[in-house]
Amino acid sequence: MQKKLNQLRSQRWFASDDIRGFAHRQRMQQQGLSREEFMGRPIVGILNTWSDLSPCHAHLRDRAQAIKRGVLQAGGYPLELPAMSLGEVMVKPTTMLYRNFLAMEAEELIRSLPLDGVVLLGGCDKTTPGLVMGATSADVPALFCPAGAMLNDRYKGQAVGAGTHTKKYWEQYTIGNIDQPEWISLEARMTRAPGTCNTMGTASTMTSIVEAMGLALPGSTSLPAMDAAHTRMAWACGQRIVSMIWEDMRPTRILTRDAFLNGVATWMALGGSTNAAVHLPAMAGRAGVALNLDDFDALARQVPVLANLFPSGDRLMEDFYYAGGLPALLQRIQAHLQLDALTCTGRTLGENIEGQTSADDDVIRALDNPVIPATAQCPEAGMALAVLRGNLCPDGAVIKPSAATPSFLQHTGPALVFDSNADMLAAINDPDLDVTEDTVLVLRNGGPVGGPGMPEWGNLPIPKKLLKQGVRDIVRLSDARMSGTHYGTCVLHIAPESAVGGPLALVRTGDLIRLDISARTLDVLLPESELAQRRAQWRAPEPAYKRGFTRIYQYEVTQSNFGCDFTSLAGNERTPEPPIY
Ligand code: FES
Ligand code: MG
Repeated sequence: MQKKLNQLRSQRWFASDDIRGFAHRQRMQQQGLSREEFMGRPIVGILNTWSDLSPCHAHLRDRAQAIKRGVLQAGGYPLELPAMSLGEVMVKPTTMLYRNFLAMEAEELIRSLPLDGVVLLGGCDKTTPGLVMGATSADVPALFCPAGAMLNDRYKGQAVGAGTHTKKYWEQYTIGNIDQPEWISLEARMTRAPGTCNTMGTASTMTSIVEAMGLALPGSTSLPAMDAAHTRMAWACGQRIVSMIWEDMRPTRILTRDAFLNGVATWMALGGSTNAAVHLPAMAGRAGVALNLDDFDALARQVPVLANLFPSGDRLMEDFYYAGGLPALLQRIQAHLQLDALTCTGRTLGENIEGQTSADDDVIRALDNPVIPATAQCPEAGMALAVLRGNLCPDGAVIKPSAATPSFLQHTGPALVFDSNADMLAAINDPDLDVTEDTVLVLRNGGPVGGPGMPEWGNLPIPKKLLKQGVRDIVRLSDARMSGTHYGTCVLHIAPESAVGGPLALVRTGDLIRLDISARTLDVLLPESELAQRRAQWRAPEPAYKRGFTRIYQYEVTQSNFGCDFTSLAGNERTPEPPIY
């Protein structure tokens, strides 16, 4: 469909010959604009998540300028709008608490203002799903302009990646293998340029998924943030969004179930972050698409990890770009994709990736040469995800086998239970801690309500006592999340969570826990009668937050298997357009 000028949303503000139209035009001219600059053109909002406390987005004001040039040259008028900036490392207690806040802000910015389409500018972890969720609910043409990954660093001859290596070096520092001056010197390194984490953490997982779903220009999410081509890509976003407005390319036209299945297959081939298991159902919910944990498990069994990137592999985003980036990876897994899905280019995904090839078969592997080969003993070892169920997680839990220790994928051991992250941190390095390699560390009250905000506590630290014995991994369980840059045998997102009375609340230290990835089960080895007795004694924890956004969050948030969206924001029913008077 080709829209006509009088069908543009912004015309409701600017075209009317009444006192309101007069006021809207007057207030634009108050900024020094001429009528001709903005009247009779599509108005493009650039939702910019730049801030001085979002280092991954440090370059986004410059990119907004490039987008503006693109919009102007394509005959539109661009307006830059600040949106909540969720710098993953700085925001406490966790950016996840604010993903829905950003989604709500993006949606209401779009709806309340005279915008015909938007460019969504961001990339650090929660920013991508937050912006996409909001734009989907507002449902005006939207194009995602990714922040891009940071440049690599090298340390002792090795390429190092943000997040993954911080954790590795911290363990080395804890046991004295790295001294303090060296540790301090590492602070100035590893994250040496603006851009998102350069491992296959949550940022690159989500931006790549969004590109595969058709909401970002082909290849855009693999471009390094500091490459000159990144600025040209931002310009191209400005150009394309103007056409998307005329073509009425709204998110709900692009985000079909096929598009989401393409996103899931991409996540698996990337060996991407477990956080996608929360963000995908939330985004799908906004588009009115049915998508659940079973869809993830099914595609994880079909699509092996082909991107050799930390933490599943040993290369970084810059290498991925040189190898051909996402289009080359998608070409490799095309047998698992819905190639007819429509994308922001106006073409199908299949058309977008035609002729793409991998320039480096070690970084972007062929289907018959996955990053971690399945073995007869452990066919799951190379999978990016497994969804578990059992008496500990009736509504599901997830684990990333490709970042876990294969020998732990079938394991029974005694639980060591912590009721809070603070309790765990206070006890974990006690030399007398009753823990062995077989222990299953359990952390509860880390879920969406309990955290609150489902913090990234799920990668519980290995007790110092075990690190000194050379142990680098043990089985860990929680209702929390884990950073996509981390690794280890960590069962995450246990649902329902303990704070709402999920079975995790009933486990006691010493109970035997059985994890069986092949069977996709996680159980506490107790009879149902014992669990029922403990359940009868269980009391919900007193909520610590009595006011403010956190109170609203705890009241509204859904469980992780539904994506932790707010009950009142989920679903694809549209809020009516605002009346203009
Ligand atoms: Fe922003 Fe990792 S901290 S992407
Ligand atoms: Mg992260």
